[in-house]
Amino acid sequence: MSMQQLSEFHKEYGKLIQEKYPDTFDPKWLVMESGWGYFHISSLDNQPWKEMHKEAEALINRFYSHREDSYGKGWKSLTLHGLNEDTQSLSQYGERDKVLQQLDWTSISDECPITKKFLTDVWPAEFLNRVRFMLLEPGGYILPHQDRPDEEKRLSVCNISLNNPEGCQFVFKDKGIVPFKDEGSAFLMDISNPHSVWNQSDKPRIHMIIHFELGRRTRDMFYTLRESFYTNRSRLNERLE
Ligand SMILES: [Fe+2]
Repeated sequence: MSMQQLSEFHKEYGKLIQEKYPDTFDPKWLVMESGWGYFHISSLDNQPWKEMHKEAEALINRFYSHREDSYGKGWKSLTLHGLNEDTQSLSQYGERDKVLQQLDWTSISDECPITKKFLTDVWPAEFLNRVRFMLLEPGGYILPHQDRPDEEKRLSVCNISLNNPEGCQFVFKDKGIVPFKDEGSAFLMDISNPHSVWNQSDKPRIHMIIHFELGRRTRDMFYTLRESFYTNRSRLNERLE
């Protein structure tokens, strides 16, 4: 992969695509079956993203270089919740269940009280896995790549723009530009789709990525309600015939 391919990728897929919304809401369909590349969690639009941006920006010299030797340039991260301040993919630390138990708040989180409060009191998932600030320097880029195999297609991680300067674009293959807002916005993302980011602005871009688990009971409740909904409906329809 090269700058040339990055440029072609952005030229080909760098358009805004409008998905068609069904009339009724079905969480399982949305997350597992819709095939959507991203979903705007607009109910979180009024969170204190700018204050959180300030907390991250104040730590700008503490960020660690990220994948500089492979597909990133000017890409840095700083871990708020993980094994340490520079936590990489959990798979490289051994058995997943054991690693998950070792995750905790890092010293970075103590310096970001507003961000931490959002994560503990507002973010609607039972368990936090890895949570990081991700910085992309002016002119920096992340070459097209895929974080999950095709079979694991679903909306999974949450990517929040704490800022997103004009000229910085996150692009998904076949799904187009993710419409991140500079004033802050949260999106669930399907990172099994190839994607790339290119910051063609003169400002650092800071996002926050949350890896999380809903928790089995929450998930099971939604699935149980969904199954009952369809069973009830088909029974009612049968009697009507
Ligand atoms: Fe990625």
